[in-house]
Amino acid sequence: AIDPEFENNRDIAEEHDGHNVWGPVEEPETLGIHGTHVAVDFDICLADGACLEDCPVDVFEWVDTPDHPESEIKADPAHEDQCIDCMLCVDVCPVDAIDVDPG
Ligand code: SF4
Ligand code: F3S
Ligand code: ZN
Repeated sequence: AIDPEFENNRDIAEEHDGHNVWGPVEEPETLGIHGTHVAVDFDICLADGACLEDCPVDVFEWVDTPDHPESEIKADPAHEDQCIDCMLCVDVCPVDAIDVDPG
C-alpha cells in the first residue's frame, strides 16, 4: 500500500503536469508517487481503473508508463485541486495505491 507518510519519507523529485512527483524516480521501472493532496503510488498502481470510473469530479487521467513492471498506464491525479474528499478512490483501489489527505 501507499505510504501515508510519504511527504515525510520521500523528497520531491520532479514536477509532472502541475503536481509533485515524490521520488525515487528511475524510469521506466521506478516512477514514484504522483500528487500531494491526491497521491497515487505509480509503483503500486496496476491500472485497475476503478478510481477513474468512480471519481465524481474526474480528478484522474490515464498516462502512459511503458515498460513499468506493474502496468503500462497509470491513474494520474491530474486535477487533484478539484478533489472533494469523498474518499471513494481510496476505498475502491484494489491495491491501496491512493492516499487522499483531507487536511
Ligand atoms: Fe475523486 Fe473522491 Fe478520490 Fe477526491 S477522494 S480524487 S473526489 S474519488
Ligand atoms: Fe491504479 Fe488503483 Fe486506480 S490500481 S488505476 S490507482 S484503482
Ligand atoms: Zn503525474
